[in-house]
Amino acid sequence: MKILALNGSLRARSSNGAVLRSALALTDATSAAADIAALPHFQPDRDAEGATPPAPVAALRHAVADADAVLIVSPEYAHGVPGVLKNALDWLVSSAELLDKPTAVLTASPSPTGAVYAHEQLRETLRMMSATVVPAACRDLTAIGAKTDPATGTVTDPATLQDLRAALAALTTAAAAPTTTPS
Ligand SMILES: Cc1cc2nc3c(=O)[nH]c(=O)nc-3n(C[C@H](O)[C@H](O)[C@H](O)COP(=O)(O)O)c2cc1C
Repeated sequence: MKILALNGSLRARSSNGAVLRSALALTDATSAAADIAALPHFQPDRDAEGATPPAPVAALRHAVADADAVLIVSPEYAHGVPGVLKNALDWLVSSAELLDKPTAVLTASPSPTGAVYAHEQLRETLRMMSATVVPAACRDLTAIGAKTDPATGTVTDPATLQDLRAALAALTTAAAAPTTTPS
């Protein structure tokens, strides 16, 4: 079982990175992180039929195609999805590697109300792209600052770790027996 992870935060001490690291450590799946910072800005002319994709785009598409499941983690910026992550998803629209791919969305915010806008926007974009969003594997984590240790870059809150374990179990179960679960 291979999980490809995409993090919408490029910050060195990203709390979403901590969520990603801890979540993946709770599964037996092998994992890889997509280098979405290397992608050029999405440009439809470069995505036209017959066009050779830029190398980082080809690498992303290959990594998604090769994965059994995709795990997206992200903060919310100005009530939206960070541009670097939306850019990555835009490069995957026409090539369709996400089609029917079991996918989880984990958003994390220091806010006590979470990253609700980015969370819903990501799920809507993925639905539109016909990814198989697995509802039981999705979480919007609130007040994340108190639940992580920046020094180790991991989640330290036991309840959150338990919740992440359940989320990842739902993702790997869906990947083992893919369905087109409505979300
Ligand atoms: C430009 C900018 C806009 C932000 N807007 C929001 C927001 O709309 N909602 C929110 O919950 N947090 C917002 N934040 C705070 C981020 O959630 C916070 O910086 C978070 O730690 C970023 O995730 P990371 O630790 O993974 O980098 C914003 C941060 C920045 C830098």
